Amino acid sequence: MEANMPKRKEPGRSLRIKVISMGNAEVGKSCIIKRYCEKRFVSKYLATIGIDYGVTKVHVRDREIKVNIFDMAGHPFFYEVRNEFYKDTQGVILVYDVGQKDSFDALDAWLAEMKQELGPHGNMENIIFVVCANKIDCTKHRCVDESEGRLWAESKGFLYFETSAQTGEGINEMFQTFYVSIVDLCENGGKRPTTNSSASFTKEQADAIRRIRNSKDSWDMLGVKPGASRDEVNKAYRKLAVLLHPDKCVAPGSEDAFKAVVNARTALLKNIK
Ligand code: GTP
Ligand code: MG
Repeated sequence: MEANMPKRKEPGRSLRIKVISMGNAEVGKSCIIKRYCEKRFVSKYLATIGIDYGVTKVHVRDREIKVNIFDMAGHPFFYEVRNEFYKDTQGVILVYDVGQKDSFDALDAWLAEMKQELGPHGNMENIIFVVCANKIDCTKHRCVDESEGRLWAESKGFLYFETSAQTGEGINEMFQTFYVSIVDLCENGGKRPTTNSSASFTKEQADAIRRIRNSKDSWDMLGVKPGASRDEVNKAYRKLAVLLHPDKCVAPGSEDAFKAVVNARTALLKNIK
């Protein structure tokens, strides 16, 4: 039996699953769960101490699903408490705050912590991850845009939703899709169905978009040395244009990256004799 297989009460009908929340302190993990389960929002910050546990029932297709939710504390101080709760999980809600770049950058470290706790025999492949880009109501402070978050999530085969625990935007859709994906996983013998497990774009495309987004100038964007010749610029441009052309690339952010590459080439060629 797969390590991540949930416990069944009546075969084929009811299912019991375990879901955990992960992400930095204060990103809104508890509020997202509260918004879904209790339909309310609390604006005062009440840090989770260690772990909060709750049970809820949901229906997916004709099945009753009993969901055990373990809401983790994000503060590093609680590492010792939360580390034993990673195992036997079918779904992970991975949250960051769109106004806190640190919380987005920390997502890799959260995955690493989980991987480490599951040990060498743990299998992260057969867990459904949903990434919540939370606090989208705070538009003024937003510093991680949708395409950046979506690119990170989808390049790992994770679901991605824009959410606000405050207004409720995206919350029901996120949970609905998340639970359906977990049921699909359970009905597939505890393995992620192949259709959901791979991104519809390549790692090379995702890496190129990230590099272009973080480049410091037009030379850097095209990946050529400052002072490169027209030929070198054109060659680098053509390679990126083929990789990211909107007709061929569906990766989030590819259109903006393609436009940026076109502009970078134009700017450089203007000044090269
Ligand atoms: P820890 O338990 O410490 O790990 O934090 P957490 O991730 O559970 O954060 P929590 O849900 O407690 O929310 C932190 C703060 O952010 C609280 O003051 C919430 O009211 C606020 N908050 C959460 N979600 C949203 C949101 O979508 N929009 C806005 N504006 N504030 C939010
Ligand atoms: Mg909390």
